[in-house]
Amino acid sequence: MLSSLALLAGLVCSSSALAGPAPAPADGKNALMKNALIADLMSRMTLDEKIGQLRLISIGEDMPQPQLLKEIAAGRVGGTFNSVRRQDNRPMQDAAVKQSRLKIPIFFAYDVVHGHRTIFPISLGLASSWDMETVEQSARISAIEASADSLDVTFAPMLDISRDPRWGRTSEGFGEDPYLVSLCARASVKGLQGTSPANADSVMAVIKHFALYGAVEGGRDYNTVDMSPIRMYQDYLPPYRAGIEAGAGGVMIALNSINGVPATSNRWLLRDLLRKDWGFKGITVSDHGAIDELPLHGVAKDGREAARLAIQAGVDMSMHDSAYLAYLPGLVKSGEVSMRDIDGAVREVLGAKYDMGLFQDPYRRIGAAEQDPPDVDAESRLHRAAARAAGRKSLVLLENRGKTLPLKKAGTVAVIGPLADAPVDIMGSWSAAGKSQQSVTLLQGMRDAAGDKARVVYARGANVTDDAGVVGYLNFMNWDKPEIVQDQRSPGDMIAEAVEAARSADVIVVAVGESRGMSHEASSRTSLSLPGSQETLLKALRTTGKPLVVVLMNGRPLDLNWAKENADALLETWYAGTEGGHAIADVLFGDYNPAGKLPISFPRSIGQIPTYYNHPRIGRPFVPGKPANYTSQYFEEPNGPLYPFGYGLSYTDFSVSGLTLSSRTLPRNGRIDASVTVKNTGQRDGETVVQLYLQDVAASVVRPVKELKDFRKIMLRAGEERVVHFTIDEEKLKFFNAALEYVVEPGDFNVQVGLDSEAVQEGSFTLR
Ligand code: NOJ
Repeated sequence: MLSSLALLAGLVCSSSALAGPAPAPADGKNALMKNALIADLMSRMTLDEKIGQLRLISIGEDMPQPQLLKEIAAGRVGGTFNSVRRQDNRPMQDAAVKQSRLKIPIFFAYDVVHGHRTIFPISLGLASSWDMETVEQSARISAIEASADSLDVTFAPMLDISRDPRWGRTSEGFGEDPYLVSLCARASVKGLQGTSPANADSVMAVIKHFALYGAVEGGRDYNTVDMSPIRMYQDYLPPYRAGIEAGAGGVMIALNSINGVPATSNRWLLRDLLRKDWGFKGITVSDHGAIDELPLHGVAKDGREAARLAIQAGVDMSMHDSAYLAYLPGLVKSGEVSMRDIDGAVREVLGAKYDMGLFQDPYRRIGAAEQDPPDVDAESRLHRAAARAAGRKSLVLLENRGKTLPLKKAGTVAVIGPLADAPVDIMGSWSAAGKSQQSVTLLQGMRDAAGDKARVVYARGANVTDDAGVVGYLNFMNWDKPEIVQDQRSPGDMIAEAVEAARSADVIVVAVGESRGMSHEASSRTSLSLPGSQETLLKALRTTGKPLVVVLMNGRPLDLNWAKENADALLETWYAGTEGGHAIADVLFGDYNPAGKLPISFPRSIGQIPTYYNHPRIGRPFVPGKPANYTSQYFEEPNGPLYPFGYGLSYTDFSVSGLTLSSRTLPRNGRIDASVTVKNTGQRDGETVVQLYLQDVAASVVRPVKELKDFRKIMLRAGEERVVHFTIDEEKLKFFNAALEYVVEPGDFNVQVGLDSEAVQEGSFTLR
């Protein structure tokens, strides 16, 4: 034992001398070595050094660099975030492993949510691909780029189910459905961590925001969450659990309270559910300043009590807080906080560092100075082809009247709109180290695609918003360079110019939506309309009689009533990333046949919210096509979503027929095969997503009207047909009962298979 300890201690001290990243030890041996190393270190750490490990410092915001170096050398920092260059992080690691008494490495974190230097589509766009290889691949590349910039950890993926599009952070998640978001969770964690978070080209995934952050009341960011246990277990918790089962090394704790107790001081959430029930073995991290906010929630009278509640609840690391450093020493001395609580948290932090491979080599992602990239933004560091491929897959074709799309590469195309040439916005929020100078706008993409075959004319047509207050709000954070730069002309003048450009063209492609800051943290909206004069612009363009192709850029479902009725084609592009302009042009010109499907329902109006497809059944349901009094509906407008979950068109057509179940009864532990024939009835090859939904006819608790349980994305050549099979077993029928047991109950089930959540073929079977 002693000799292995000595070996490990040697590894810690001499690791800076290692030439390249040492491989992580194999599993069984690894656990022994890890425990021995941590035990040895902890036996030698002072209380202050232990508390130091619990501090996660925001570079710049929390303290200036010279002071930070001193703090690290004094062993008072566990990790930092927001610094993304090897040459900046190297001196900090030097301070930790060369100057601090115990030479414990620090880690470097960042919000790498949908790309690092190459920006991929926002998560909502990635989810629209219904292609888990694409989700995984984009995360893999993000990790490769981030680790090459010395990052060890990312605060991602964001796994909050969002059913209220007023919430600006809807853009950061994978949508409304527990099953689809759970698959995305797995794929992202796998991509980020690779085969091990210890690999030099992996980053540790810290999934967020645990828990239920997507359900903030009224969609207002940071608001409270009140939710029944069944809904929590059935709908909102599964994605976090999927991320953990995929091996995520960390969990970030949400800023909201849950049924009266802030997540940050929630023992049930962090100890009972996360650790005991789910067996989570990684690190928990508070969100930014969350411990200091506990007095504002009104559960702690001051910072001291906040620190005590957080550590006792199970918050290992404190992000951008002063409370742990200021109060934990006194709380331990007075006996109000036990050494056991401190040690538990420290063990997790050291364990996470071990799992990242930092004890084997603290420089495994920082590398040697001679190999630092001379230009971190160099073109050669980008993964453009993968970003373009992901971009194309993330686009959802919502309308295509009279086959307006694809466009011909001929004549004149008027590219119009406040988002047509918006290199910052196309990256979406949380664009990490992405550079807008490197992103391809729609205008650029259309010009590149048209080449000398078609003429492209451009007019801005409108600002995204005309409201100076909104511009001020969105520019608030960008001190050095305002993100929103307004065209000073009047809305009327801009529209007149756009109409003139449109008149000179054969077709209009108009990019409207939201600037990226409108779909971000702290960007909740009270309206889902196109802001400012954008709809007036659309209406003016419509009067030209030219084919009108509306390209949407937005991070949440918008109110598209006018566009649905009046545009010739409507393409949802979310924020498609660095290669967004090329990806969109590929689709508009038909070089790629779109196959994206909505991962979230689009309501008709804000009053309909929440509009998620898998809502619980009720006693007086509204039956479409059969309006009746005293059924659950809004009487002023049609009911049901404008565009349902799972919806999306292609340039070809598909038919689904002949739902066949291999048996009408499912024995316990048995299986049923459900199959349909899917045919490409159109003129060109294309992909579509065949979706399986189930409904429990009668259960001990109220169950959803339907739930997505499986899907297949298939490619069919023009005229080709294929039988698509799904296996239904008990696992797909399980749910949480009133006692929160995950059970299956015998009885009848309805099966639905289709190309979206509404247009389905139906069948049924009985579970014996
Ligand atoms: C606050 C956000 O809620 C969280 O998602 C993010 O990771 C941290 N800030 C750090 O940037």
